Amino acid sequence: MNTIQTRRSIRKFKPCDVSRTDIEKIVDAARLAPSAKNRQPWKFIAYTGAQKDKLLDIMGESLQKEQQQHALLPHSQNGLPDAFNTLGIMRTAPVVIVVINTNAASPFEPIDADSRITELCDTLSIGAAIENMLLAAAELDLGTLWIANTCYAYNDLAEFVGHKGQLACAVAVGYPDESPSQRPRKPLADILEFRT
Ligand SMILES: Cc1cc2nc3c(=O)[nH]c(=O)nc-3n(C[C@H](O)[C@H](O)[C@H](O)COP(=O)(O)O)c2cc1C
Repeated sequence: MNTIQTRRSIRKFKPCDVSRTDIEKIVDAARLAPSAKNRQPWKFIAYTGAQKDKLLDIMGESLQKEQQQHALLPHSQNGLPDAFNTLGIMRTAPVVIVVINTNAASPFEPIDADSRITELCDTLSIGAAIENMLLAAAELDLGTLWIANTCYAYNDLAEFVGHKGQLACAVAVGYPDESPSQRPRKPLADILEFRT
């Protein structure tokens, strides 16, 4: 409970490397998460150094293209400034872990209801795995940022990553250079309903 209560999204990282052992510990925590039908529909690719720089250069070029053409997510353009901001944060993180849904296809492909249910279950499973990662990282005094703004650069990032699964999101990892207060949460009474 203490780690759950004190974990924060970190958006400022110290310029210190994270050991390979710590990255392995974080992804090992992900591996232990529950998953629908125990499918474990995940793969984690940890980018550091020059490969991380290349990944983020591609994301930057792709965001610029999206800003000019509005081709990928034309109804979500109001989120683009935040995506640029997220990219700036990712540049300061020593590690960016790309999370792949190994069972799913691109979100830009059409999908039937059966496949959508399967994809929903796999996405829920990936969410459980990522929360494990964030909590494991916090216990190692590492900060994390869960990132879905990769969606604005989806096709270019997916091509660079080169995995045929769905690029679900990314997690930036590094030593925190800020200690934010807890972000607001809805009160329990607003979200929990008992029916007896
Ligand atoms: C699925 C998901 C996607 C997110 N994507 C981003 C993102 O792209 N950029 C960002 O700055 N924060 C992102 N966040 C972090 C949320 O903004 C953050 O969790 C929320 O504001 C609550 O703050 P806290 O994590 O410090 O409790 C994401 C969180 C989740 C769960």
